[in-house]
Amino acid sequence: MTVKKGLHTDQIIKSLRTRYIGKELLYFKSIGSTNLEASEAGHKGSPEGTLVIADKQTHGKGRLGRSWISPPFANLYFSILLRPRISPLTAGWINLLASVSLVKSIQSSTGLVADIKWPNDIMVNEKKLGGILTELYLKGDQIDYLVLGIGINVNMSRFPALISERATSLKKELKHDLHREALCISILEKIEEDLELFYQKGPGTVLSEWEKHSNTLGKSVIVRQPGQTLSGKAIGLDSNGGLMVETEDGAKVTVMAGDVIHLQTIGET
Ligand code: BTN
Repeated sequence: MTVKKGLHTDQIIKSLRTRYIGKELLYFKSIGSTNLEASEAGHKGSPEGTLVIADKQTHGKGRLGRSWISPPFANLYFSILLRPRISPLTAGWINLLASVSLVKSIQSSTGLVADIKWPNDIMVNEKKLGGILTELYLKGDQIDYLVLGIGINVNMSRFPALISERATSLKKELKHDLHREALCISILEKIEEDLELFYQKGPGTVLSEWEKHSNTLGKSVIVRQPGQTLSGKAIGLDSNGGLMVETEDGAKVTVMAGDVIHLQTIGET
């Protein structure tokens, strides 16, 4: 029999070296969606950095209206409430920034090298290890708050048949269980550090780091969007973090949301 243990949030609180992220922590053994709870906290005026973390989600939300499979005690599911004082037009950079912070903290705390599929899927060998759902709430034309929701497959060893070919976990890759609290701390600290840099210096660093860790740029891609599909070569990001695709007829099209399928690396045989 396996003994399943809940998260030790006391360890997170004790060891976390951040200024504001996670200083207010709401833990749930089971919840519908940490993003939804964080959004309610944002609406009620909870402080910047409030962390909502759960051991299980019954209605975990993924990008593009999908659901996020969230079995109990195995993985990390959390949402961070942010109140960035930036234009809503540049908020998309936080979505990309979080993926860079995740890849860096996964590497520094586990040694595993993951990469990023546009916009912010965390991948290992083309299998999805984690995902980020950013939801923006406006008051007039300003950001009221933003919810950064993060799911990482940590100790999950069996996947539903539907996703078993496309998903992986840290345990599957590294062949051992991982300490979820330590990983969570490392991610929260890295996000806060990267956010501060972004607020001070703008998107330049995010862009160069995202490019460094991207596995999409330079590839032949198919981008599926609601109502249309586009194919071409992924050539870069535009000033709002959208993916620029050069189609076969030489047109350059920018995509702001969608699902990317990598066909091959250009130049690869
Ligand atoms: C994706 O589809 O790639 C994004 C997945 C985001 C899942 C996380 S789990 C914690 C947070 N709460 C949610 O309901 N979704 C995000």
